[in-house]
Amino acid sequence: MRSSEQPQLARRRLALPLLLLLPALLPRCRATSTQRYDPTWESLDSRPLPAWFDRAKFGIFIHWGVFSVPSFGSEWFWWYWLKEKRSKFVDFMKDNYPPGFKYEDFGPLFTAYFFNASQWADILQASGAKYVVLTTKHHEGFTLWGSEYSWNWNAVDEGPKRDIVKELAVAIRNRTDLRFGLYYSLFEWFHPLFLEDESSSFKMRQFPVSKMLPELYELVNKYKPEVLWSDGDGGAPDHYWNSTGFLAWLYNESPVRNIVVTNDRWGAGSICKHGGYYTCSDRYNPGHLLPHKWENCMTIDKFSWGYRREAGIGDYLTIEELVKQLVETVACGGNLLMNFGPTLDGTISAVFEERLRQMGTWLKVNGEGIYETRTWRSQNDTITPDVWYTSKPEKKVVYAIFFKWPISGKLFLDQPIASLGATEVKLLGHGQPLTWISSGSNGITVELPQLNFHQMPCRWGWTLTLSNVT
Ligand SMILES: *[C@@H]1O[C@H](CO)[C@@H](O)[C@H](O)[C@H]1NC(C)=O
Ligand SMILES: *[C@@H]1O[C@H](CO)[C@@H](O)[C@H](O)[C@H]1NC(C)=O
Ligand SMILES: *[C@@H]1O[C@H](CO)[C@@H](O)[C@H](O)[C@H]1NC(C)=O
Ligand SMILES: *[C@@H]1O[C@H](CO)[C@@H](O)[C@H](O)[C@H]1NC(C)=O
Repeated sequence: MRSSEQPQLARRRLALPLLLLLPALLPRCRATSTQRYDPTWESLDSRPLPAWFDRAKFGIFIHWGVFSVPSFGSEWFWWYWLKEKRSKFVDFMKDNYPPGFKYEDFGPLFTAYFFNASQWADILQASGAKYVVLTTKHHEGFTLWGSEYSWNWNAVDEGPKRDIVKELAVAIRNRTDLRFGLYYSLFEWFHPLFLEDESSSFKMRQFPVSKMLPELYELVNKYKPEVLWSDGDGGAPDHYWNSTGFLAWLYNESPVRNIVVTNDRWGAGSICKHGGYYTCSDRYNPGHLLPHKWENCMTIDKFSWGYRREAGIGDYLTIEELVKQLVETVACGGNLLMNFGPTLDGTISAVFEERLRQMGTWLKVNGEGIYETRTWRSQNDTITPDVWYTSKPEKKVVYAIFFKWPISGKLFLDQPIASLGATEVKLLGHGQPLTWISSGSNGITVELPQLNFHQMPCRWGWTLTLSNVT
């Protein structure tokens, strides 16, 4: 049971005796509890985003598939090699594989030999994330579950011979309080039916009818995802994919209709415009407040979403950079979806595990200023650079998160207006209230505690709790 669901449940329990006693209320109550959506963007876009998503703030993205076998260059390996014939990829194949070796031949080499979903779940829990999104099928078309519509191009018939989606779903739900989400690529680079449809300018709809739609229904019914992360429209419009028809089913009939969140990648032109929350582009981080809920999906390896064996330490974002991404994103109303790529063996490389655990260490101290927060009237300080604000209006608290501990020991904030006798300032993880000096309507100067290195509550960024400021 997740605490965020309890208010809703409690309300439903209260509503029942009320309905029995007061039949006159029935139509109104029914209208709110069984809202139906039409297969139009106007109707679907009016669905309120389930509240758990905005409260969660931080999720982990996992890119895993047959591209993890060459684990070279990018998860777009197949496309860059076969279609674009980029020399880096052509040479890699020439140097390492016999002539005639096809991408499909990587399938049996995808062993996932050391894959232990419980171990992954424990690491994900330790990261402080509140949801996880796994690629169930990337543009290569290989499904990580035993799709009935995939021929043998899936993890149950080929490679691991295991239902990866199911194993992770069970471990996440049994061992953690994370929500379980699924990524699904609508199109497939080289699927013959998609290519035929494409050559008809998408007048033919063989691929969505026989592959993509049946797989989406199967995924939702079997694994009951709480996030459905659609991607890869292949240049086709939403009516080719029947995205609105599918989403109306998802919101009205599906087993996750009350809880599922979706993104905005449902056909050419729908991104940043239609669907659930907005992703707008990869690594989207606008630096200002958006009126619509959004997500910054980004990856720890600066150059790839899938695992790359040739990556050096400088290719990975540092923990300082990752914490900053999280803070900026949340201050501007977004969620951070931070990606790593497992190896073909099913291991999480030590560098990714360290980054995940470091995020969790930071959130253990500073999570109060991240989870379940709202944006504030200012997203960042206008005088002191790199100070970001979040808030909890119900507690009359503003959080100021900063990344540079000032040498003077004094931090000036021009945005919060303090009031004598009411305002209290604390450092998360420290305890004692801090001294401050008000500059009236021009801000506040906070005297930070004099802590030596070992007394610091955390590294990489610190959070001030400002109670009763305006
Ligand atoms: C899988 O991981 C869990 C959690 O770390 C551990 O308890 C279990 O022994 C592991 N299973 C195997 C087969 O290694
Ligand atoms: C959940 O975990 C418990 C204890 O670790 C185990 O006994 C049980 O079989 C697991 N349930 C599932 C569905 O895996
Ligand atoms: C689109 O999906 C809906 C809901 O499943 C279905 O009723 C409708 O027939 C579909 N339309 C097309 C053109 O595939
Ligand atoms: C912070 O706020 C100021 C003024 O509102 C703005 O000009 C600046 O670009 C913002 N961003 C950063 C990173 O400081």
